[in-house]
Amino acid sequence: MNFEYNSNFSVKDLSLTIEENSIYALTGNNGSGKTTLLRLLVGLLKPKSGTIKIFNEILTRDKNQLWKLRQRIGFLFQNPDDQLFAPTIEEDVGFGARNLGLEEEEVKKRVKWALEAVNLTEYRKFSPYDLSWGQKKRAALAGLLVMKPKLLILDEPFANLDFRSIYNHLKILETLRKEEKMSILFTTHNLFFIEHWADRVLVLNDGEAVFEGNIEEGLNSPKIKKLLGSYEDILNLLNKK
Ligand SMILES: Nc1ncnc2c1ncn2[C@@H]1O[C@H](COP(=O)(O)OP(=O)(O)O)[C@@H](O)[C@H]1O
Ligand SMILES: [Mg+2]
Repeated sequence: MNFEYNSNFSVKDLSLTIEENSIYALTGNNGSGKTTLLRLLVGLLKPKSGTIKIFNEILTRDKNQLWKLRQRIGFLFQNPDDQLFAPTIEEDVGFGARNLGLEEEEVKKRVKWALEAVNLTEYRKFSPYDLSWGQKKRAALAGLLVMKPKLLILDEPFANLDFRSIYNHLKILETLRKEEKMSILFTTHNLFFIEHWADRVLVLNDGEAVFEGNIEEGLNSPKIKKLLGSYEDILNLLNKK
């Protein structure tokens, strides 16, 4: 598969395997192509050449296939403002479940469960505009959960969050993984989450996979260390002053 914007950037051939119930990190520096790759995977962008295979199926991007995919994969945008559009959180969260054609009783049940899962029950009547960044992210996540996806794809889920919010988000995601057996593919340039949370990692550089596999091996590789940089480099710089 190949993809190019009208700029010089392109995503080159790559493949990744996400085990059931596991956490997969996609990393690389700013502009390395993480978001582009995710958008290709969920059919929001079309490859210029080649094919994308997901769940062993070639992505044709026909409406029917994309709709089925949406039910198996929940894609959380980096910016929750791009994802929330209903007047209240409750309506927003129910949207996907209603679209599934579920009975109203089942929709209500799922909305209640999803709002509880992300700790937003007491905010259900709020407008998305009146929520904090972290709350918006959780509301957008609840909107995905009502579809009961097997795979959650999260673009920079921890960006812009304080430590308390990161703690809360991780707790929610870990519960979903354990109780609902969901797998998670997430992007980050923060090595902390890769080292302590992920099971596997793919490192992108300029649209190309430069490492795929075991976390320890990836993070200890001199080539990857040099590419991604670290606090150590920054400390060395500061100590030279
Ligand atoms: N809509 C677009 N049109 C042209 N170039 C884009 C567009 N979106 C992203 N790019 C470019 O593609 C490259 C990869 O971007 P992106 O996938 O957002 O990287 P990352 O998520 O890793 O920061 C960057 O060089 C970026 O400037
Ligand atoms: Mg990005």
